[in-house]
Amino acid sequence: MAVLPDKVSLLEVSSGRNVAAKIVELTPALARTHIDRIWWSDFDEASAEEPPEDRDWKWADVAARADGSRDFICVGVSITGADEICGAMRYQTGAATFFNPTDLANEVMLLATAPTSRGRPWANPGYPGVGSALLLRAVAHGDALGLQGRTVLRSIPVKATIRF
Ligand SMILES: CC(C)(COP(=O)(O)OP(=O)(O)OC[C@H]1O[C@@H](n2cnc3c(N)ncnc32)[C@H](O)[C@@H]1OP(=O)(O)O)[C@@H](O)C(=O)NCCC(=O)NCCS
Repeated sequence: MAVLPDKVSLLEVSSGRNVAAKIVELTPALARTHIDRIWWSDFDEASAEEPPEDRDWKWADVAARADGSRDFICVGVSITGADEICGAMRYQTGAATFFNPTDLANEVMLLATAPTSRGRPWANPGYPGVGSALLLRAVAHGDALGLQGRTVLRSIPVKATIRF
């Protein structure tokens, strides 16, 4: 497989500093301990206007379905020096798309950032730009595979995601 760029620089809103991060393979074990058991543990259902669409996504199961597969890839964004995964994505390489079935693309099937890292910059104290960094990874992989970077993201029917 082509060697893909894996270094990411993110703004840490709480300190105002840039921190180093890395795109890593998301194994089921990593997803379970660093996403499923963490991301929503402090979530206050009562104060949320509506429950976030991805509240019940089980990333350990998502990662297990990509485990050992050549075409389905599951990656996360790991903050260097911190025991933290702040974003995750599952995509399929070389997928035939609705737009043009003959020009294959990388299709992003699931993408999410940690609840503390999402939204317009400064809306949350985490790291803005994680969603973009993950999308760029799918584009870079599509480029390395000779797909000219063609990438498709299916949006879920939520206003904020459509805007993203
Ligand atoms: C959608 C999602 C992945 C975006 O990730 P993110 O890390 O917050 O996005 P980024 O910080 O990279 O933002 C990229 C751009 O989108 C904009 N954006 C992100 N969320 C937005 C929102 N809620 N409303 C308006 N704009 C938004 C940012 O302002 C930024 O624009 P800019 O480059 O002009 O400043 C994240 O909000 C999420 O996990 N949502 C829940 C799950 C989901 O909807 N997944 C996607 C479909 S599978």
